[in-house]
Amino acid sequence: MTRGRFITFEGGEGAGKTTQIRHLAQRLAAGTRTIVQTREPGGSPAAESIRGLLVAGAPDRWDATSETLLHFTARREHLLHTIWPALDRGDWVISDRFADSTMAYQGYGHGLGREPIEQLYRLVVGDFRPDLTIILDLPAELGLQRATSRGPAENRYEKMPLEFHQRLRAGFLDIAKRDPGRCVVIPADAPTQTVADAIWRSVQQRLA
Ligand code: TMP
Repeated sequence: MTRGRFITFEGGEGAGKTTQIRHLAQRLAAGTRTIVQTREPGGSPAAESIRGLLVAGAPDRWDATSETLLHFTARREHLLHTIWPALDRGDWVISDRFADSTMAYQGYGHGLGREPIEQLYRLVVGDFRPDLTIILDLPAELGLQRATSRGPAENRYEKMPLEFHQRLRAGFLDIAKRDPGRCVVIPADAPTQTVADAIWRSVQQRLA
């Protein structure tokens, strides 16, 4: 059995990941492969419980280190119970966020730095990497506007200051620059179909 492929979507708030994942999953499912759509934090029963602790409550509920450890605990559960079994079955897995979010939000946004995140990655995830990471990029102001126009701030992160969101946007761009073989940056400030077509071209080029 051929191992499946692992595609991750990353980006700040309001970047349109959910819509774009739906488009890509539809296009990929037109073949014979099984597509598993999942998300972080979450994606397995225990990880979804941890998600509740991370996204609800006051922005300063956790300090940066506790928050990072919770994200990695959820990630370990997600890998063990959802991602790795699916890839072993030969399924393609699309995850709405993965470890680049911890690097961008906790490493760059909260200022924890790259080194602690890289160390935890080695411990929790090991050598495993996404086959392709799509980073949907747009100005932080615009993303926050889009996210909050859906209603009052839904999660703790949307309530964090604009500067935090500007740092994590710069973080995602830096992550992509350091790992161009895995990451593709796609401008998300464009019509939905234009973004979907750009994503589809990247998937075809990189995972053909
Ligand atoms: P979502 O709104 O995209 O579902 O993600 C929930 C929030 O969790 C989002 O604001 C980003 C944040 N997050 C981190 O801060 N670090 C992480 O490692 C992950 C996966 C998400």
